[in-house]
Amino acid sequence: MQVLIEGLGLAAFGMMRDATRDSSRLTHQILAYVMQDEARHVAFGRLVLKDYYSQLTSKELDDRADFVVEACHLMHERFRAQLVWEELGFDTADCRAAVDASPAMGLFRKLLFSRVVPCIRDIGLWTPKVQRCYQQIGVLDLLDAYLDELMRHDEAVATRLLGANARVPG
Ligand SMILES: [Fe+2]
Repeated sequence: MQVLIEGLGLAAFGMMRDATRDSSRLTHQILAYVMQDEARHVAFGRLVLKDYYSQLTSKELDDRADFVVEACHLMHERFRAQLVWEELGFDTADCRAAVDASPAMGLFRKLLFSRVVPCIRDIGLWTPKVQRCYQQIGVLDLLDAYLDELMRHDEAVATRLLGANARVPG
């Protein structure tokens, strides 16, 4: 849950940071600060869970892998917004097709799962079930996303936006 939700937060703020048009740069700077905070949360989960999971039994790891599979399917489905289309009385098949083809939604999915997928492998939950799930929702190729590289990019953007204030003590 920690890795998934913090990855989701980081991806959502990253998308806002990159899409925001604000000539004063204030919005970009606020989002860069928030992302630095979220990046620490992701790193915390990755470090702590990697150590902790290495001590668990295969049954215990399997329970956590089941959670990852269910949560990732739900996240993937949630962004297709089926319930919203139903509530509005729209043709859900058309709407789902439009969402699936949307470049913005494709980018968001990529931003989200490119942070989650390598992290799940890194913490030791790379079970066949999890791999099958990522294959089904079309994000298995994001395994090759370089999480450290993404984090360094975020840090570089923060430094550019925040200058000397980029490093927050503590
Ligand atoms: Fe967070």
